[in-house]
Amino acid sequence: VGFSQVGAESDWRTANTESMKSTFSEENGYELIFDDAQQKQENQLTAIRNFIQQEVDYIVLAPVTETGWDTVLQEAKDAGIPVIIVDRMVDVSDDSLYTTWIGTDALCEGRKAAEWLNGFAEAKGIAASDIHIADIQGTIGSTAQIGRTKGLEEGVDKYGWDLVAQQTGEFTQAKGQEVMESMLKQYDNINVVYCENDNEAFGAIDAIKAAGYEVGGEEGQILVMSFDTTNAGLTQTLSGEITCDTECNPLHGPRVEEIIQKLEAGEDVDKQAFVDEVAFASDDTVTKVTIDGTDYDITPITQEIIDGRAY
Ligand code: AHR
Repeated sequence: VGFSQVGAESDWRTANTESMKSTFSEENGYELIFDDAQQKQENQLTAIRNFIQQEVDYIVLAPVTETGWDTVLQEAKDAGIPVIIVDRMVDVSDDSLYTTWIGTDALCEGRKAAEWLNGFAEAKGIAASDIHIADIQGTIGSTAQIGRTKGLEEGVDKYGWDLVAQQTGEFTQAKGQEVMESMLKQYDNINVVYCENDNEAFGAIDAIKAAGYEVGGEEGQILVMSFDTTNAGLTQTLSGEITCDTECNPLHGPRVEEIIQKLEAGEDVDKQAFVDEVAFASDDTVTKVTIDGTDYDITPITQEIIDGRAY
């Protein structure tokens, strides 16, 4: 199995890589060729071509962005190698270029977060016009960024919040911190920071504190929202530094293995499958959001929950 991973730039990615490596281990009967693309699509294209040359049985691709895959996936198809896409999606002209996709519903995550913010503001009696949001986006063009940004923008349109600034933090802590620092210098009214992953949130929190502000959901504080629900992210949710953290589940190893076992047995697999994901908040101000008629729990985080989670 050849696995091309976006890059080890976040806690989420570490959990994802560990899940793949522990599943596709030698003792489980696999040979895994792992490639860390360092967030660059050209590295992923090279990795896939190397996998084809090495005649792997399966290619697993966690694509950095959605576009630009048609040619290389055609090469894999011509070589007769099934391609399993995980986590983020690919946008290709012909969906027979890959065998199956399993991953996150980033738009649903963004909508959950936006509905949580609306519920929180209503419960606290904060007027929509008093909500001034900075959006630290993920890697532009990635499924996780596209969906989470869209979920927020829908909330902005629906509720009339003020979207003060929007800039990519590349899903990294360093860039999240840098972007937050510059936004705080430019705008003095930001009171909500919508970070599109946990590592950006860690960086943003450092920048907020360094600028002399407090983080949290109380009046006068800057409220930080995030995605991923990594162990470190939920620990900062428990301490109240992140007020709402929406899950993006990284444990794809066993899911990919199940797909491969089905394919080996000649069984059909679904073309697309979303994984189940949850959401947590630092308190119980909002415990449920509704999106298109479906209710989603927002669970107040506890140490017990953190200790019982697999990542
Ligand atoms: O595609 C998943 C996202 O990518 C995760 O939210 C983030 O941590 C990673 O960089």
